[in-house]
Formats: sequence, structure tokens, C-alpha cells
Amino acid sequence: MGDSSEAGGLTARDVRLARGGRAVLDGARLTVPRGAVTALVAPSGAGKSTLLRCLNRLLDPDAGTIELAGRNVRGIDPRELRRRVGLVAQTPTMLPGTVRDNVAYALPAATDGDVARALRAAGLPDAFAGRDAAGLSGGERARVALARALSRAPEVLLLDEPTAALDADTAALVGRTLRALADDGVGVCMAVHDVPFAREHADRVVGLDDREPPR
Ligand SMILES: Nc1ncnc2c1ncn2[C@@H]1O[C@H](COP(=O)(O)OP(=O)(O)OP(=O)(O)O)[C@@H](O)[C@H]1O
Ligand SMILES: [Mg+2]
Repeated sequence: MGDSSEAGGLTARDVRLARGGRAVLDGARLTVPRGAVTALVAPSGAGKSTLLRCLNRLLDPDAGTIELAGRNVRGIDPRELRRRVGLVAQTPTMLPGTVRDNVAYALPAATDGDVARALRAAGLPDAFAGRDAAGLSGGERARVALARALSRAPEVLLLDEPTAALDADTAALVGRTLRALADDGVGVCMAVHDVPFAREHADRVVGLDDREPPR
């Protein structure tokens, strides 16, 4: 894999972070090239969510370098960074209001057509736009969070266990959506437990050292 910074992707090197007095990340590395789907596979508790949160500066590591398109993310305004690097959280929170309110949050120019397109790409029918977000199931919330991220057209999209709450068919649809995003030049990275899903839908399957794990 070539230098992702040249291709405009995200690169994390030697990231260290202690939490609660313990090293959670101890020299983590990750490359998220644009135009490809990367799957981050590591055991529960290994630090995948923590690393993804460092990549868009919801957390700042104690040491290490994170670059977006060759530029240190510490030099990028956090709002701009989070617009360019979307993160779909492992347990997404819904804002009060409808699904439409959630998908179009802080996007005043979003049309009903934009919202419907994002919902469909996330595996939800258009009619979901009018639903009260508070009443959604876990899998529906996961897809609304994906639609919210898609509607922002990020350069890099990070997804933390995007299919954990989904049935196999819906998960496969999400996999195809991620493929289409990568084909459009987005750098996609999903943290996943489901190794067969990762192998089917990702171009690269790596651990927290950015290397292919042993089969
Ligand atoms: N705020 C915190 N304070 C103390 N420890 C923390 C904190 N946040 C995370 N940790 C610890 O850091 C480790 C890594 O957590 P993280 O959520 O990144 O793992 P993960 O690889 O995403 O796991 P999973 O696959 O279960 O989602 C865990 O042992 C967790 O308990
Ligand atoms: Mg996690």
C-alpha cells in the first residue's frame, strides 16, 4: 500500500494513549487510504474505538502523529476536521426530533431528496424521515447515524462496528454502500468484530499495527 498521505488519506503513527492509568494504545498505527475500504480488526478492549476517536480528535493522544492528507490534524480546526473525517460511533446517540432532523442536523441546505438518498444508502426507507428518533431500535439508530455521516460527504469515513446491530442482509447492504463510497474516492475504515464480513467487504484487513493479522 502506497503513501496514503499523498493520496489524501489518513495516517496514524505510533499513537500512545493512557486512560485510567493504563496504556490503552501503545504505539498504534493505521493507514486509511482514499478510495479503499479498510477493516480494523482487533479483540474487544484492544483500543479500536479509542484509536478511531483519536483520528478526528474526540481524544488527543499522549504521543504519536495523525495526518490527514499529509497535514497534522492538530493544526486543523476540529470542526473542519470532523466535517472531513466523519465518525459513526459504536453506540450512536440520537438528537431529539425526527430522523430527518438527525440526518440533516447542522445542514440547513439539505433537501428532502438529500435526506432520502442518505437514508436509502444506509438501508432505511424514505418514510423513516418522519419517525421520532427516540423510538428507534438499535439497528435503526445505527443506520440513521450512518445516514447522518453520509449526508456530510466526508473525505474519510470511520465506522465503529457499523453492522453489530444489523441482520446479515442489512449488513451486506451497508457493506455495498461503503464500497460505493470508496469507489467515489472516500477513505473508509470500519472497526469490526466480524472477520468474514471484513474479508468480504474490505480491501485491507489490518490490526492496530496496520498489518494484516495472521489467518
Ligand atoms: N475513559 C476511560 N477510562 C479508562 N479506561 C478506558 C476509558 N476508555 C476506554 N478505556 C479502556 O481502554 C480499552 C480500550 O477500549 P476501546 O473501547 O477502545 O476498545 P475496543 O477495541 O473498541 O473494544 P470493543 O471491541 O469491545 O468495542 C478498554 O480496556 C477500555 O476499558
Ligand atoms: Mg469499540
